[in-house]
Amino acid sequence: MNKITFIINGEKRSIYVEPNDVLLDVLRDKLGLKSPKCGCERGDCGACSVLLNGKSVRSCLVFAIEVDGCEIETVEGISQNGLSVVQEAFIEMNSFQCGFCAPGVVIATTELLRKNSTPTKEEIKEALAGNLCRCTGYTPILEAVEKISHHNKHNSDNTGGTNE
Ligand code: FES
Ligand code: FES
Repeated sequence: MNKITFIINGEKRSIYVEPNDVLLDVLRDKLGLKSPKCGCERGDCGACSVLLNGKSVRSCLVFAIEVDGCEIETVEGISQNGLSVVQEAFIEMNSFQCGFCAPGVVIATTELLRKNSTPTKEEIKEALAGNLCRCTGYTPILEAVEKISHHNKHNSDNTGGTNE
């Protein structure tokens, strides 16, 4: 067993992991963070996405031992002070059906909007291209992100402010 120390949703944690423990399993089974979902276990679906040092990664492809010294954020962290603007927009637009893809989409959208608060439709499509949804045809997901982008553009045109 190897000791790793990292920051998870703002909290410093140290745990012991085997060299071949996968981050997704450690998050779900050792830390009780169930938002990352196990869809394919091979990097294809995006359901297991988390932010690793601010960048969206597929936690099924990361060994836990690799995150020693890193900062990880899951949907639990994003929503720990209440639903984020991203989550509110998806709810408002009824963007999901079964919701299995939702955490990964929230992670990818959060990463996108932190870098670019007013993405174009093409930029949104590109950012979410790795997140598969078997239910919705993607339209209500894209519309929700576009709505945030338009809102942010409107705000920055008028006040210089942005929203995530
Ligand atoms: S479970 Fe990781 S990409 Fe599908
Ligand atoms: S809402 Fe079911 S997989 Fe996306």
